[in-house]
Amino acid sequence: MTDDAEDARSEDDWPEGIPHRLYGRRRGKKLRPRQERLLSDALPRLRFTDLGFAQGARALWFEVGFGGGEHTLAQMRANPDTAIIASEVYEHGLCSLLTEIIPDGAEATAPIPPRLRLWPEDARELLLALPEASLDRLFLMFPDPWPKTRHAKRRFVHPEMIAIVARVLKPGGIWRVASDDPTYQEWVREVFAGQTIFTGEAPATRRPEGWPPTRYEAKAIAAGRQPLYWQWRRQSIIRSNGTV
Ligand SMILES: C[S@@+](CC[C@H](N)C(=O)[O-])C[C@H]1O[C@@H](n2cnc3c(N)ncnc32)[C@H](O)[C@@H]1O
Repeated sequence: MTDDAEDARSEDDWPEGIPHRLYGRRRGKKLRPRQERLLSDALPRLRFTDLGFAQGARALWFEVGFGGGEHTLAQMRANPDTAIIASEVYEHGLCSLLTEIIPDGAEATAPIPPRLRLWPEDARELLLALPEASLDRLFLMFPDPWPKTRHAKRRFVHPEMIAIVARVLKPGGIWRVASDDPTYQEWVREVFAGQTIFTGEAPATRRPEGWPPTRYEAKAIAAGRQPLYWQWRRQSIIRSNGTV
């Protein structure tokens, strides 16, 4: 893997309007031996391959860009009957989550959480590949804001992403979005105002019950920024012209 690596899809089968390139950083400072072992021995065992791990689960949730994994792990522990796919491209983030669930020295052997799978690639790639109406919830907690207007296409919330997320969410499924960045907050308002597939109330200004905290949220609050928390519901009514 290289920084800003192109993903495995070709330009041709990538939806028009969505940048093909992954702009997130994959690598940071040199990994320690324990981190190397987590990535080489533990991650392949937890890597998402198919939906078999979700068989019999009460629901299937997906987290985009889990950072250090605080939200993913809190949701997993609070909802043991729910299957979760958690995506993150940054190696140190993957290691942070893995450190919490895999004891040192047992990277190749420790039992893995049965209802958790990781996707260490661009989340958009898997969202395009999952079956239609397979997810009950999607979490997007404090995404990279890309505040410059000329970088708007790099934002996960994007008019082109609305149909992609709507396809993979069940009717009535929930898309949670949290952001502390004023430009991104305004952008979320604008993008959701321009579509009819998702409905939602005005955003909460305090983290709602059942939304575990994340590292970025803590940083944002410490820096005096005001997070907003949206909950969007995918509508289930299909009009005769095929729109939702
Ligand atoms: C600002 S951080 C927030 C992390 C975490 N959600 C939190 O609240 O602490 C955004 C994270 O999204 C990850 N990311 C960005 N684009 C991604 C993509 N297309 N697929 C998966 N992860 C992505 C980045 O690597 C980064 O760790």
